[in-house]
Amino acid sequence: MGKKYISCLILSLLLTITYQNFCYGQEHDETVTSDSDDDGSSEQQQHIDYVTPQIDEQYLYESFDDEQKFQLRWHKSTAHKADSSDLKYDGEWGLVQTQDRLKDDLALITKSKTRHHAYAAKLDKIYKFNSKPFILQYEAQFRNGQECGGAYLKLLAVPSGDLQNLNDKSKYSIMFGPDKCGNENKLHFIFNHKNPKNGTVTEKHWTKANSVTNLDEVFKDNRWHQFRLEIYPDNTFQVSVDKHYAQKGSLLEDFKPPVNPPKTIDDPNDSKPEDWDEREKIPDPDAVKPDDWDESQPRKIADPNAVKPDNWDENEPEMIADPDAKKPDDWDQEMDGDWEAPLIPNPKCSSLAGCGKWSAPLIDNPKYKGKWKAPLIANPAYKGKWVPRKIPNPDFYEDLNPFKTMAPIDAVAFELWTISDNIAFDNILVTDDLDTTNYVSSLTYQIKKEISDEATDNLVVKAMKYANKNPWMWAVYLFVIGIPLVLFIAFCCVSPVKKPSDTPASSQQDYDPAYSKKTDHPQPDYIPPPEDEPEQQATTSINKIDEEEEEEELEEDDVEEQKQDEEEEEIEEDEEEDEPEPEPEIKLRSSPRQRRPRKE
Ligand SMILES: *[C@@H]1O[C@H](CO)[C@@H](O)[C@H](O)[C@H]1NC(C)=O
Ligand SMILES: *[C@@H]1O[C@H](CO)[C@@H](O)[C@H](O)[C@H]1NC(C)=O
Repeated sequence: MGKKYISCLILSLLLTITYQNFCYGQEHDETVTSDSDDDGSSEQQQHIDYVTPQIDEQYLYESFDDEQKFQLRWHKSTAHKADSSDLKYDGEWGLVQTQDRLKDDLALITKSKTRHHAYAAKLDKIYKFNSKPFILQYEAQFRNGQECGGAYLKLLAVPSGDLQNLNDKSKYSIMFGPDKCGNENKLHFIFNHKNPKNGTVTEKHWTKANSVTNLDEVFKDNRWHQFRLEIYPDNTFQVSVDKHYAQKGSLLEDFKPPVNPPKTIDDPNDSKPEDWDEREKIPDPDAVKPDDWDESQPRKIADPNAVKPDNWDENEPEMIADPDAKKPDDWDQEMDGDWEAPLIPNPKCSSLAGCGKWSAPLIDNPKYKGKWKAPLIANPAYKGKWVPRKIPNPDFYEDLNPFKTMAPIDAVAFELWTISDNIAFDNILVTDDLDTTNYVSSLTYQIKKEISDEATDNLVVKAMKYANKNPWMWAVYLFVIGIPLVLFIAFCCVSPVKKPSDTPASSQQDYDPAYSKKTDHPQPDYIPPPEDEPEQQATTSINKIDEEEEEEELEEDDVEEQKQDEEEEEIEEDEEEDEPEPEPEIKLRSSPRQRRPRKE
């Protein structure tokens, strides 16, 4: 018996060591690189190499990774408030790391609460709406959520002039991005359209801006999100959030007010003639009230079948003056009148069915008919609903190509009011090439997304992803899960000890809950021998165990193969309940919170 106990102890030790090695090894391999200044902190270990995407010929690509370049390119608005010399845009901006693990990836961030923020940069070259698509892509992260405020970009119309004068009147061609106030959230897409007849510019608002699915999460989940707008020369457009197409549409159909005014309008001089009868039905003038129609019956009557309960005391009042109430000291007889104690329910009635005058409850009167009304008949004089006459719209025009009539753009600008602080922006791209857009996305947003996913993925998914990248890990998994299982069954299950005082199972549970869980589902090949058999074995256990061990080892290969199949199935079928359940704690310890990198 002592022998078995020791075996299990050794086994538990072995498992613990294997397990630790496994976790340690995994973490280290995940570390793609490490800088020369390796101080061993966990953040250093988690550091991932990031390289700013290098792309040619853009209208604009801003990664915010080069602080010097950023300072030269971007301008904070120094515009004044309308009626004073105070700065209108007093919100502070700064650069921050996008994620703890992406040391070299910087982002622009708003740093003030309840402030106007304005920052703008010129494009490298003017974008003209001609034969190539217009694509805008950028990322935003709401680090402190958003109570009320925007995170949208404006594409300023040529000439945007001195960007230090940027203000809410600055002319733009396109405004795009998320906005939220209270429970209302939007993904704005607004463009300015010039009336070809008289040159007046009006905003056209995308009609589906507040019906983008899951936009609410964007403001709440603290993750990086990518917003993309693609507009094509055929006047179609696509809006996407996190690479999912939120909506497709047309500049000609999905905006309010519409680009093109209606051809005809109601004649403002037309009015409804006095004798125009709009009543479709009228009371039948020939109908007469039947003689037996009694209009005098009330709707409700006292229930004639109700009887006063026996313990109803009509002599006691229902309410009495509160005997404990006292006249307030500051009661002014002159001002306030005579003081009266407030009424309280009569305590004598609490044990009775009721007090005071009893009256039968009211019921519907079966004889009630109400006021007689003549039945309705079709109105012979009915002329239909009146509508004013249509006349040609004097303001009519037709612009079938609103894409091409948009004003060229030469700058991007944030011009925002926000209540919540810490909105981060990154990777602003203005281009006419979808491949470039996807390329930038794969090197920036995709990495951030994977890091965030990793923090929230459950362990099985994580282990799968890791093993898919490093196939040899499957062998490690098998070793870690398979060997201890085999040994456990060999040592501890085959010859169970009946005395509860020294059950090895108790020592099993001490080192690994997953282990005991595992044994709840023994493999079919390892059905423990019937209950009574081990008792006999116990007497000859020493020799037996050695024999059995050999047997088990022989079978091991088969088992491992089978295990792998099963594992793969299980992972696909159900990610939640499976063997590496105890790992999350370990994971939490090794991955520091990434949510709130300290501001500079
Ligand atoms: C409405 O009547 C006024 C005065 O008769 C006239 O000047 C105006 O042009 C009319 N408007 C339309 C739309 O016909
Ligand atoms: C131009 O026409 C629109 C109607 O299409 C009108 O609302 C606007 O006031 C006009 N602007 C000027 C400057 O006449």
